[in-house]
Amino acid sequence: MRIFDEILRIRKNFFESVKNIKNAEQLNNVRVVYIGRKGKVSRLLRTISDLPSDIRPKVGQELNSLKDEIEDKLKDLGLKINPHHQRFKIDETLPGRRFFAGHKHPLKIIMEKIFEIFFSLGFSLVEGPLIEDDWHNFTALNIPEYHPSRDMHDTLYIEGSGNLLLRTHTSPVQIRILKNNTPPVAVIVPGKCFRKDAIDASHFPVFHQIEGLWVDRDISFADLKGVLMGFVTRLFGKVESRFRPSFFPFTEPSCEMDISCPLCGGKGCSTCGGQGYLEILGAGMVHPAIFKNSGVKGEWQGFAFGMGVERIALIYYGLADIRNFYNNDIRFLDQFR
Ligand code: DAH
Repeated sequence: MRIFDEILRIRKNFFESVKNIKNAEQLNNVRVVYIGRKGKVSRLLRTISDLPSDIRPKVGQELNSLKDEIEDKLKDLGLKINPHHQRFKIDETLPGRRFFAGHKHPLKIIMEKIFEIFFSLGFSLVEGPLIEDDWHNFTALNIPEYHPSRDMHDTLYIEGSGNLLLRTHTSPVQIRILKNNTPPVAVIVPGKCFRKDAIDASHFPVFHQIEGLWVDRDISFADLKGVLMGFVTRLFGKVESRFRPSFFPFTEPSCEMDISCPLCGGKGCSTCGGQGYLEILGAGMVHPAIFKNSGVKGEWQGFAFGMGVERIALIYYGLADIRNFYNNDIRFLDQFR
């Protein structure tokens, strides 16, 4: 058979012609002549369809194995000519790859410090839904429709749901807790809150709050002060506290709590804007409407408070910009390892 003789001849010629190869260029020339697109083997492979059908498989087999043989030989020769030319190059001068162990986010660290303090006072932790209805987020908290304080809580409404929204604070969980539990209750409620805020150094549309609620037979404003003053001292060390009258629809009376700036000791610095004091939370005695709206009957009274976790974390670490918490910049986060 002419074709089989030709295959043998090509094989013989190939091994003959690689004997004296000395460099990559010669090697490549041989490659082109034999297995390049127009090379001897490739050309024959293309003529297979013209052959009588009984010898086609055998010819195909022989040509393909010859092609494999040629490729192997050329690869061997290539390695001999340039031993560093390997499929996987290894650069031994590169430094080893470091593995990073994860660690807690600074907001998580602060939240856990806060939890610890309230756990030690007997509070337990409860969570509520991030998607709330208008009733729990506003109306039941004594914030009726068209009440001006809804303006400050502009948020993201769930389209087509009628009355569902992303909760603007953790206070709606007060209603849920009182609805489902008979006092006494002492709880803290951490979680994400949402507002339609523009992003700047102290605002972000998603942020975290920790709500607190203690209801019992004779909880007074003195208990509110005692618990919160104890809390700030344990978190920040020796600081002065100050309670200013304020207004929240769901507490009466209401107050805001300031602490002397832990960074400058009250002298005035960039963190406290030269004031010496920093506002850290809102609080007050639970408004009777809250008990009524959550179906609590009987002689109960209590206090509630709400704090922004980002704000506490900024003060605790002496940071200026809330955006650092969300940028996922490893150079920032690594400092809290
Ligand atoms: N919910 C309030 C806010 O987001 C914070 C707050 C103030 C919570 C007073 C309370 C409270 O429980 O008693 O602005």
